[in-house]
Amino acid sequence: MSNSQRFWEKGYSDAKVWTMGGPSVEVFEIEQFLPRNSTLIDIGCGEGRNALFLALRGHKVTALELSSSAVKKLRSTADRYSLNIDVIEGRIEDFVPDENYDLALAHSSLHFVTKEVWIPLLREMRQRTKPGGFHNFTSIIGIPRYPVPHECRHANSFDRGDLDSQYADWQILRSDFYAKWDSHPGIPTHVHAVEKFLSRKANSVEGFGLTKVDLSNSDSLPLILFDSIPLGADATAVKSMGVRPRHVNRIEMPGWNMTSPTELTGNYVVEDWIFGKHGLQFTQSILTGKYEYFTSPVSLRNSSNYPTE
Ligand SMILES: C[S@@+](CC[C@H](N)C(=O)[O-])C[C@H]1O[C@@H](n2cnc3c(N)ncnc32)[C@H](O)[C@@H]1O
Repeated sequence: MSNSQRFWEKGYSDAKVWTMGGPSVEVFEIEQFLPRNSTLIDIGCGEGRNALFLALRGHKVTALELSSSAVKKLRSTADRYSLNIDVIEGRIEDFVPDENYDLALAHSSLHFVTKEVWIPLLREMRQRTKPGGFHNFTSIIGIPRYPVPHECRHANSFDRGDLDSQYADWQILRSDFYAKWDSHPGIPTHVHAVEKFLSRKANSVEGFGLTKVDLSNSDSLPLILFDSIPLGADATAVKSMGVRPRHVNRIEMPGWNMTSPTELTGNYVVEDWIFGKHGLQFTQSILTGKYEYFTSPVSLRNSSNYPTE
C-alpha cells in the first residue's frame, strides 16, 4: 500500500472535513496550563486539528507531517486565519528537534515508526523540553481482543507501559488505556485499543486538579444498548433511548468552533458521557466516539466531573 492509499488521504484532500475529528479534549486541558506564547511541536500532525487550536490560542507551533495533502491543507487553513504554524513536510524518522518546547504532541503517529526510532527521538525531546513542559501521546496498541488491523500498517511498536518506563523520571499525569470505536471519511466504524499518555517535566503534582473517574461501580449502560448506538447519532436521540450517564465531562470553548477546518470560530463543545466502564463522546452534540475503559479516565481539570441528574 503506497502512502497515497492510506486511509487518511481521502479526508486530507477534502478541505471541508476533519479526517480525525476536531481537537483532542486533553489538548484543551493541557493548554490551560501552558505559559502564554509557548513553543510547541505536533509530530505527525495530519491536517492540524490540534496544531490549529494551539496556534489560535497564540502559541508558536511547529507541525511535522509526511502527507503532502495534509501539509497543503494545514498551510492553507493557517494562512486563511493568519496563524503562526511552521509546517514541515517530512518523516518522523528524519526529524531532528532544534528548539526547546513547552509541549510535544504526537497523536496516533508514533506507532507508525519502530521503537528504534521513537525511543531515541523521545529521549532527545525530553532533553529539549523546558522545565514544567508536557509530552502528550496517543498510541494504538494491539491486544488479543482488539488486534491492529493489517490494513493500518502500523509498526505495532508500542506495548502497554513502554512510555511509563521511558518517563520514569518525569511526573506521569495520565496513562489511560481504553478501546475506542472510531470512524473517518470513507472508513467504516472500527475499534482500536489506545493508550493516552500525558507526562510533565516536574516533580510535583501541585497546581493540577487531576480527576479520576471511578469505574468500580457497575455500568449504567447495558451492553446491548451501547452496541446499538451508532456513531453519528444525535445526543437528543440518544437521551430519548433512556441513556443516563453517571458523569459528564464537558469542555466548552466559546469563540473557537473547531467543527470543520473551514469554520474555526464560534462555540465548540465536547461532552464525554461516562457510565462506568463505558463512555460516549459527543462533539457538537453528535456521537463521535464510543469507549470501553480499561483504566479510569483521567481529566486534567478542576471539578471537571459533575454528576448528572
Ligand atoms: C492517524 S493520523 C493522526 C494525525 C494527527 N496527529 C491527528 O491526531 O489528527 C497519523 C498521521 O501520522 C502521519 N505519519 C505516519 N507516519 C509518519 C512518518 N513516518 N513521518 C511523519 N508523519 C507520519 C500520517 O501521515 C498521518 O497524518
